[in-house]
Amino acid sequence: MNWSHRYAGPLGGDAGILGQLMDSREKLAILPTPLHRAPRLSAAIGTEVWLKRDDLNGVALGGNKLRKLELLAADARRHGADTLVTVGAPQSNHARTVAAVAAMLGMDCDLILGGPRPAEPEGSLVLDLIFGARLHFAGTTEWAELERAAGDVAAEAASRGAHPYLMPTGGSVPLGAAAFAAAYAELREQCRAEGLRPAAIVHASASAGTQAGLEIGRKMHADADVTIIGIDVAKITGSLAGEVGRLAAQTARLLRVSEPTTPPQVLDGYMGAGYSIPSAGGNRALRLLAATEGIITDPVYSAKALHAVCEEQVAGPLVFWHTGGIPAVFSAESGLAAWPS
Ligand SMILES: Cc1ncc(COP(=O)(O)O)c(C=O)c1O
Repeated sequence: MNWSHRYAGPLGGDAGILGQLMDSREKLAILPTPLHRAPRLSAAIGTEVWLKRDDLNGVALGGNKLRKLELLAADARRHGADTLVTVGAPQSNHARTVAAVAAMLGMDCDLILGGPRPAEPEGSLVLDLIFGARLHFAGTTEWAELERAAGDVAAEAASRGAHPYLMPTGGSVPLGAAAFAAAYAELREQCRAEGLRPAAIVHASASAGTQAGLEIGRKMHADADVTIIGIDVAKITGSLAGEVGRLAAQTARLLRVSEPTTPPQVLDGYMGAGYSIPSAGGNRALRLLAATEGIITDPVYSAKALHAVCEEQVAGPLVFWHTGGIPAVFSAESGLAAWPS
């Protein structure tokens, strides 16, 4: 795709910056990801639902992190990096995707993961190992301590003569979020081709980057009639809406476009008992999508967001942005690896 061409236009600011960034990204994903109708799910819940399939982007079993990492990996390359270092939970989609990106770019990878080393690797951990990442279990789940441990690992790598690059947590910095401003344009073009005018875009939201980027994309195209609804599945920050607003403003400054003026919409109440703990409602939604469309969501992000779609009676047509996370289905914590009673 010729992104420079795509963004050269009257989009409210120097839209060419996004085009230049997209042109200079590491081109790792299969884009555009598909957009298609979900007719049986729509009939089951009584709202017209379309699925934006970022679970099908071709790398490490898919997911939203890859779009951000294409831009951040290009930045790592510009800095002469040969080692990517990042932090995450053991089933982290971000960490797994960083491991895959490092493999694709011929770089080393160190992952600093929360908690103790499990007896057996499961889910994303299996893939982290296959991609050749070095895994460091920090013992703690405190984010500040994980970040500190990442700094130590990077310093140690540098002392060996390596050139480490610290990938920001979740890729949620303005440069990463910018990828979702471009993703919004990708979706918009697909909607136009389908004759679809979505009333809402719904997705799992956690570290704010996906939603902040989509908000910027919407603003750049002046699509005031499209509502973007992030389902808070992590409660990492006190106010996710505040965090999305802050990151969107920073991203707008990076891209030199005007900042969104409406507050971001974030919906609470679907995380369940906690971040990375499956919920009964989320797993019901996961089974519903699987039974109606043959499509798998993940129990701690996309399925919880889908649960909100099932419950909230959001006016359609709506686009459910499938942000991936598939490998977590195969971890013991998913609660899915059990015989029916
Ligand atoms: C599968 C999945 N969906 C959604 C999200 C949320 O994206 P963001 O952190 O950009 O809000 C994540 C982030 O970890 C994820 O792994």
